[in-house]
Amino acid sequence: MSMETIKTECQEALAVVENADQLAAFWAKYLGKGGEVQKLMAGIKSVPNEEKKAYGQAVNEIKVWVQSLYDEKKVEIDKKAMMARYDEEVIDVTLPVKEVAAGNLHPLTCIKNEIIDVFVGMGFDVFEGPEIEDDDHNFTRLNVLKDHPSRDMQDTFWLTEDLLLRTHTSPGQIRVMDAQKPPIKVLVPGKVFRSDSDATHSPMFSQMEGLVVDKHITLCDLQGMLDQFVKALFSDAAKTRLRPSYFPFTEPSVEVDVSCFKCGGEGCSLCKGTGWIEVLGGGVVNNKVLENCGIDSSKYSGLAFGIGIERIAMLKYGINHMGKLFENDIEFLKQFKA
Ligand code: PHE
Repeated sequence: MSMETIKTECQEALAVVENADQLAAFWAKYLGKGGEVQKLMAGIKSVPNEEKKAYGQAVNEIKVWVQSLYDEKKVEIDKKAMMARYDEEVIDVTLPVKEVAAGNLHPLTCIKNEIIDVFVGMGFDVFEGPEIEDDDHNFTRLNVLKDHPSRDMQDTFWLTEDLLLRTHTSPGQIRVMDAQKPPIKVLVPGKVFRSDSDATHSPMFSQMEGLVVDKHITLCDLQGMLDQFVKALFSDAAKTRLRPSYFPFTEPSVEVDVSCFKCGGEGCSLCKGTGWIEVLGGGVVNNKVLENCGIDSSKYSGLAFGIGIERIAMLKYGINHMGKLFENDIEFLKQFKA
């Protein structure tokens, strides 16, 4: 092909190129290996010596010229391809989207988090112990001795002669005091298990243990903290009342009532006419328990409490059957969407 033919042909061929494939074919035909430009180059062999220089220059000019035509076209084709992609991938942001059904926290998780927030605000740490405990942690070192009638207060699921499903979160007290020296201020949330089942009891439920060990800790500290707790969870007007009780691991021991947040203390169906609702057990840590953990009870004293989380949830949300909290009925749970 002569130089002139190549020039006109190239222009004509490029004029009809519309896409990247056609452009690649153009490149192969004219600029690629064995293409028309290279053929012209090879033709230099048959050119007389004195014309070789001029011939070479002329071919080179053609090469540069075809290349520039090609480059120009490539920019045009690339741009066209990009615009086509934009058109294809366009998103109509005004289209209404399908609503995503997001879940929500379980009411027990909400209550647990609320309680943790209150006590963390007072400087408490959070610790979690195992659900399978041994007799030593669950009973003996908490001063619940073998054959002591108080073991009957809690119907235990025994796994072996020594292992059991913890009946309360109090073994967490022992684990914390074994691991840490006073001052101690810790919360132990967790599941506990007792062979018991009716409207207000379930074989599995949750507790929140609290333990404070330091110098000069008294029952007043317990009531002060619990006052803060009921105010945060129920209402600013809520108050606590301590009644004497018995737990082997606290001395003295108390049941703690909160003033009825429904009637404000007048007496109603929720508080069974008394104006008070029992919410937890607690007391001053028995010296024997401190000593069982190697803490000098002449220097240190402690307070402990155990809150039933389901009970608080039932009171707060007016739930009349504990089982509802474990059935996972989605319609029931949806009501607690924050
Ligand atoms: N562990 C007791 C229970 O489950 C509650 C409690 C905890 C009482 C801490 C006193 C101190 O009934």
